[in-house]
Amino acid sequence: MTISFEPTQGLFHLQNKQMSYVIQLVHALYPAHVYWGRPIRSGQLASILQYQERCSFSPNPIAHDRNISFDTLPQEYPAYGTSDYREPAYQVALPNGSTITELVYDKHRIYKGKPQLEGLPSTYVEHEEEAETLELELQDAAIGLRVILSYTLFEGHAALTRSVRFINEGSAVLKLLRALSMSLDYSHSDFDLLQLSGSWVRERHIERRALAPGKLTVESRRGSSSHQHNPFIALLAKDAGEDHGDVYGFSLVYSGNFAAHAEVEPYGTARVSMGINPFDFSWLLTPGEQFQTPEAVMVFSHGGLGDMSRTFHKLYRTRLCRGEFRDRTRPVLVNNWEATYFQFNAEKIESIASAGRELGVELFVLDDGWFGKRDNDDRSLGDWVVDKAKLPNGLEDLVARVNGMGLEFGLWFEPEMISPDSDLYRQHPDWCLHVPKRRRTEGRQQLILDFSREDVREAITGMIRDILGSAPITYVKWDMNRNMTEIGSAGLPPERQRETAHRYILGLYQVLETLTSEFPHILFESCSGGGGRFDPGMLYYMPQTWTSDNTDAISRLKIQYGTSIVYPVSTMGSHVSAVPNHQVHRETSLKMRGDVAMSGNFGYELDLTKFTEEEKAIVIEQIAQYKQIRPLVQFGEMYRLLSPFEGNETAWVIVSEDKTEAMVAYFRVLAEPNAPLKWLRLKGLNPAYDYEISGLEGIYPGDHLMYAGLAVSGLQGDFQSKLWVLSRKA
Ligand code: DGJ
Repeated sequence: MTISFEPTQGLFHLQNKQMSYVIQLVHALYPAHVYWGRPIRSGQLASILQYQERCSFSPNPIAHDRNISFDTLPQEYPAYGTSDYREPAYQVALPNGSTITELVYDKHRIYKGKPQLEGLPSTYVEHEEEAETLELELQDAAIGLRVILSYTLFEGHAALTRSVRFINEGSAVLKLLRALSMSLDYSHSDFDLLQLSGSWVRERHIERRALAPGKLTVESRRGSSSHQHNPFIALLAKDAGEDHGDVYGFSLVYSGNFAAHAEVEPYGTARVSMGINPFDFSWLLTPGEQFQTPEAVMVFSHGGLGDMSRTFHKLYRTRLCRGEFRDRTRPVLVNNWEATYFQFNAEKIESIASAGRELGVELFVLDDGWFGKRDNDDRSLGDWVVDKAKLPNGLEDLVARVNGMGLEFGLWFEPEMISPDSDLYRQHPDWCLHVPKRRRTEGRQQLILDFSREDVREAITGMIRDILGSAPITYVKWDMNRNMTEIGSAGLPPERQRETAHRYILGLYQVLETLTSEFPHILFESCSGGGGRFDPGMLYYMPQTWTSDNTDAISRLKIQYGTSIVYPVSTMGSHVSAVPNHQVHRETSLKMRGDVAMSGNFGYELDLTKFTEEEKAIVIEQIAQYKQIRPLVQFGEMYRLLSPFEGNETAWVIVSEDKTEAMVAYFRVLAEPNAPLKWLRLKGLNPAYDYEISGLEGIYPGDHLMYAGLAVSGLQGDFQSKLWVLSRKA
């Protein structure tokens, strides 16, 4: 891995074993994007950029050089106003009312390692040798604006990260109107765009469509990254599929309003850009102040979507997630939400935990309803005091009893919220996000606490700290159940109101940093009505997310498959729930539900006391099996075989890094009359190894399993599944 600079032609070449990324300073001033793709050798890099006069409608900013227009120059961080009419990467309003700025190259720095981004989550290195960083410093001397474009290339990953820092070195107050994290121009637009979109209980469904002239935008204006669109897009070569072809993935390490654009304009080129959504955003930069954008992670794959996903998986699992649980297997849990909702007492909780102990469950999670007067969802958020009516002997006593059964104890919080019917709201009605003299729109009868305010953050952190310190709690489910409205802060002056949404996210990150550092032995799981904030920003603080509120095994096939496009299995919470399923009212077998949930952080979310003897026996086996394959499932490499978005079947295989073990999961939704015979061609195994397969006689060569396939038979009826565990024959 190297980042080199060739001064005569102003060429920067960022190169590792998987890719090259080339930037050239045009006229020694303007950073142009030259190339990103498979590794190429230096030598003729300067011949790549082509210049051609277009027409007077693409004006020429460099005097007497009609071959250059910013409208046609592929750029690294483009501005609006000086001949580029495409999506700009940034825009700054000046005190004189103008929004014209011009950044030009000033200097650069290349160094080993990767710096942390102040106040923001980001990927990281543990040793300097793991990455190299280029900082390209641009300036607009007329207003004293310095902009630092940071690029970090990882040694062992086909990944590059980008972020931008704005520094006001002048004497006037500047106002950022947009400050994206990255922008880059492809020389052609022969791509499809892939996005992960959906809604609550239908998150991260794969959508693929062709780029066409004009702009496609994937964005959130909801104040969080959202169920509707994940902060991710990929450009795929037209012929690229799961296992072949060039794919470029862009993922934003951010949990708030984001925008990702793919624009085809005007000469067949394509521009991709990504960052904080400029919609309803601005940021005042007073003299001496800095603004740091979130990080965009860019992955290149010549081996299709599958390779792209595995690059994201490994990078995010090992160099985004942090803390004690990053490399630790996660406990099998039972959560009482779908078992009891708000109607429980200490005896009920103990009975579920006790049933869990018999089955092999390791952790009991007490969900919503244990605090204030929370008998339904219209009150008490913010009153983080145990409800003695439900738990008369307090939390400590309940935790001790559950611990006494040999289970660990986890607790649900929704710390960012406040119910209008709460003591906290009665004391501090201005602590929620709101705008003076306007209605406060409620969602699930709750408002959002203004985490941009330090006093609010401190008060909530204190309450959570007290509860977490009051008993041996080893797991926290951090929920967040509505999107923002009337986004305004009583703590900010009028000219900074449009900073509220981003300041909220920065405040949230600060609270998470504090609590996760103070309680390093607690496994934090993030949740936002399931997957409403399943994003890399949250994963930096909490190494796993409740994937979706939809626990139906069939719906989960698409949700978990779509989620796996970017996020590793170790980040996905996945539970067996009751039938008929509470979200879609479908009946599926306990086996099917277990088999789907096993491709994630496994657990149960139903009343374990209601199992029949026969069901108990199945569950005991499921849990024992999961415990056996857990390191493989949570830390193995995932190869997708059959997509639920393309047919009736879904399949994937998870392979250990040394390829000595694998788990193959196959699911068929509906029975088909007289269907073709079926073999699953496995991927990711070592063709030279021989494998034993659970439930099958004989030894199977890896090449046989990969090229001839594993026979699938004996399925009867709808909603069928198979799980095979492979281990290398010693
Ligand atoms: C939404 C979560 O996603 C559910 O799992 C549950 O915790 C409820 N909130 C509780 O209100």
